[in-house]
Amino acid sequence: MENFIYSNPVKILFGKGMISKIGKEASSLGKKALLVYGRESIKRNGVYDSIAESLSKFSIEFHEHPGVKPNPVISHVREGIKKARERNCDFIIAAGGGSVIDEAKAIAAGAKYQGDPWDFFCGKAKIESALPLITVLTLPATGSEMNSGFVVTNEQTLQKYSAGSVHSFPRTSILDPQTTFSLPEVQTSYGASDAAAHLLEGYLTTNDKDSEITDNYVFAVFKTIISSSRRILSDKNDYNARASMMWSATLALNGQQALGYKGISFPNHAIEHSLSAIYDMPHGLGLAIVIPAYMRHNIEKISGRLEKLGENVFHVSKSAKDAISAYESWLRKDLNLKTRLSENGISKDDIPKIAENAFGLAAMWGMGISKKEIEEILNRAF
Ligand code: NZQ
Ligand code: ZN
Repeated sequence: MENFIYSNPVKILFGKGMISKIGKEASSLGKKALLVYGRESIKRNGVYDSIAESLSKFSIEFHEHPGVKPNPVISHVREGIKKARERNCDFIIAAGGGSVIDEAKAIAAGAKYQGDPWDFFCGKAKIESALPLITVLTLPATGSEMNSGFVVTNEQTLQKYSAGSVHSFPRTSILDPQTTFSLPEVQTSYGASDAAAHLLEGYLTTNDKDSEITDNYVFAVFKTIISSSRRILSDKNDYNARASMMWSATLALNGQQALGYKGISFPNHAIEHSLSAIYDMPHGLGLAIVIPAYMRHNIEKISGRLEKLGENVFHVSKSAKDAISAYESWLRKDLNLKTRLSENGISKDDIPKIAENAFGLAAMWGMGISKKEIEEILNRAF
């Protein structure tokens, strides 16, 4: 087990009715907020009204930045920064899924920076400060509510890149599982696939094979993602399953999932981001395509890890092959996701283009994976 320093400053308010506390939380940050949200979901499920009601009790004014799209884009980030500046907002509120929270983090940092926000993503500038951020999560998936990273697509260059800094952690994140009752089934599936992927990246890429506590953390959270998504997909009003799913997704990428691991990387995310960048594919679906192929490609190198995963999470006998089958079968049968490029309308001729795009990000993240290897993985995903 490797040495580590762990610090996570995010205050979590978890449970039924917690959105009513947003006014009090916000009152220490200023008098004027920019409310960032997506298309219509927060207006339909009551989240918008709950936020507005609580803010008004504390006389907090808010301006709006709606229209964040899934796989958020840099042009919309730029518009948000302009609004935050023109209206002198003291802080940002993000209400929605990972895309909304990520865009809000980019606006929070961009509002304090004189150059173009894309500079943060291409390594041209470091984030030195940011407006404070409160999040109201409505979709368990990314962990963005309790981490400091964010992902945005440059729609001109088709690069889906990430940025982050210690200044980008939300101050407070409100997690009310009731907000997820309105989620379409497919979003539950994408979310479960993404959260599981966050556990797998560290677990499969660590060079340290003896961090028992972290392995067991990964298994416990993974098993809960499986059982709670199963319950949600058979009864969408199961509050306790919604609650377990929401907290599991947060725990799957708040840093603790990889403590003590050594030299980990996110190869599947590097490849998936190209599918999102080129085809606007939902992130959780892209991962469901890439990860089984990555596992098959690396079966010899990571057989011990796969066997342990299979035994502990899927209760299959000591076989790496069986573990991969059990994982892919969970994605296909439980979550109803199509795990092959061909089933998702992507042509084999596109593979070199996807690999080229993914290699750009992998190089940016300093990963020692070649374009040829990425192509091989994508061929296995076909
Ligand atoms: O736009 P609205 O109307 O809000 O609808 C959204 C959107 O269409 C809908 N939705 C959200 N909550 C809902 C709801 N619909 C009904 N009821 C609710 N309660 O769901 C759709 C998808 O939302 P989105 O925010 O895109 O999904 P997700 O949370 O999966 O976020 C994905 C984004 O996060 C990035 C991904 O790459 C992708 O861009 N990630 C961020 C990470 C991070 N910051 O740490 C890590 C992840 O690996 C990931 O890369
Ligand atoms: Zn992810």
